[in-house]
Amino acid sequence: MNLNIELKNSRLEQAAVEARRGEAQQALAKLFSGQLDFTGWVKDPLRYDEAKIKALTDTAAEIRAKCDYFIVLGVGGSFMGAKAVIDMLPEEDGTKVLFAGYNFSGRYLKELMKTIEGREIAICVISKSGSTTETLSAYGIFKEIMLEKYGKEETAKRTYVVTETRSNYLFDQASEEGCTIFDLAVDIGGRYSVLTPVGLLPIAVAGIDIGAMLRGAAALASQETFAGTGLDYAITRQLLSGQGKKTEIFEFFDPYLAYFGEWLKQLFGESEGKDGKGIFPVSLMFSRDLHSMGQFLQQGTPLFFETFLTVDEPADDVAIPDTAMPPFAGKTIQQINECAEKGVLDAHVAAGTPVVSIRVPRLDATTTGQLIYWFEMQCAVSGLLSGVDPFNQPGVEAYKKEMRGYINKL
Ligand code: PA5
Repeated sequence: MNLNIELKNSRLEQAAVEARRGEAQQALAKLFSGQLDFTGWVKDPLRYDEAKIKALTDTAAEIRAKCDYFIVLGVGGSFMGAKAVIDMLPEEDGTKVLFAGYNFSGRYLKELMKTIEGREIAICVISKSGSTTETLSAYGIFKEIMLEKYGKEETAKRTYVVTETRSNYLFDQASEEGCTIFDLAVDIGGRYSVLTPVGLLPIAVAGIDIGAMLRGAAALASQETFAGTGLDYAITRQLLSGQGKKTEIFEFFDPYLAYFGEWLKQLFGESEGKDGKGIFPVSLMFSRDLHSMGQFLQQGTPLFFETFLTVDEPADDVAIPDTAMPPFAGKTIQQINECAEKGVLDAHVAAGTPVVSIRVPRLDATTTGQLIYWFEMQCAVSGLLSGVDPFNQPGVEAYKKEMRGYINKL
């Protein structure tokens, strides 16, 4: 495994962590047993043989050959993971993946329309339910643009859909029109679907090696990986929550991880925040946020613990010229970044904040696949330890019902 987990600054008694390992292993066994609903993701990376990967990479190559822009329409688990991975890994030349259908901003849509004007495009509509307001209203808009530009037949050829292959609005429309449809398995929920066509198709179009991502994840997809100390992060979260640390702050020292933070917020927030329980997930980007939240972190209400996610070898580095202000002159940006990481860790640990450190050697496709799978497993076990169902989201329906009421009255 390419992940290095350090829990020595969690301020927990080792015996307390050890005492919950049996319970965590039972939760893990349940996840692998297939008895629980929506746990298809647990073994899914093992189901990707070369033919399945090739079907996705061939489609991606076809899209790359004919498009300047590939516009992904989806919200929540239907776009967040793909955006996180595409942002994290260095961009390839060629087709650019853009995202829409995750907000209701007319300005955003108009600017996107300006960007794609006169360029070759295809769209990817991603929705498990096939009826989400953000996604389907954006689909209506981009379909019209494509119909005008390409006509009916070519629009269908340039429309790729990921949904459950059973009757829903999107599936029925796409089938009737002859669009290419990728199946999202019924037993995999949105926020656990990055390593399915939901994430893999846009990621492959961005030129990222999805085979390496899947092999990275598959290497972790066994109970042995999480045996012994393998679930101590999930246990640590629950023990800290029990001590009143009801907020987890994910902290990054690399701006390209910002959307990975958004994905983590969704994964943990939607999985654990129910039945009056849950750890509120927050993400901060350093060093930017040290100049806005650093004061609170050091001396504010101690209601949180911090989870650092750091990368040993950055994708790039820049030397600071000798003419710069001493003592920065002659150093590199990464050297200064490492000093920031060490300094923040020392200061926050000294302030009494529990800190978990997760390090990866570098950001590449394999490590990214592992990070995604590892966090999904820790989140699922953590949710089960807290006594909630980590795979449903009944609370989301309340606002949707109210919003639909207002829309129907328009
Ligand atoms: O994780 C989830 O289940 C949600 O965030 C969904 O992904 C999100 O609500 C979008 O739903 P759908 O894919 O049905 O359009």
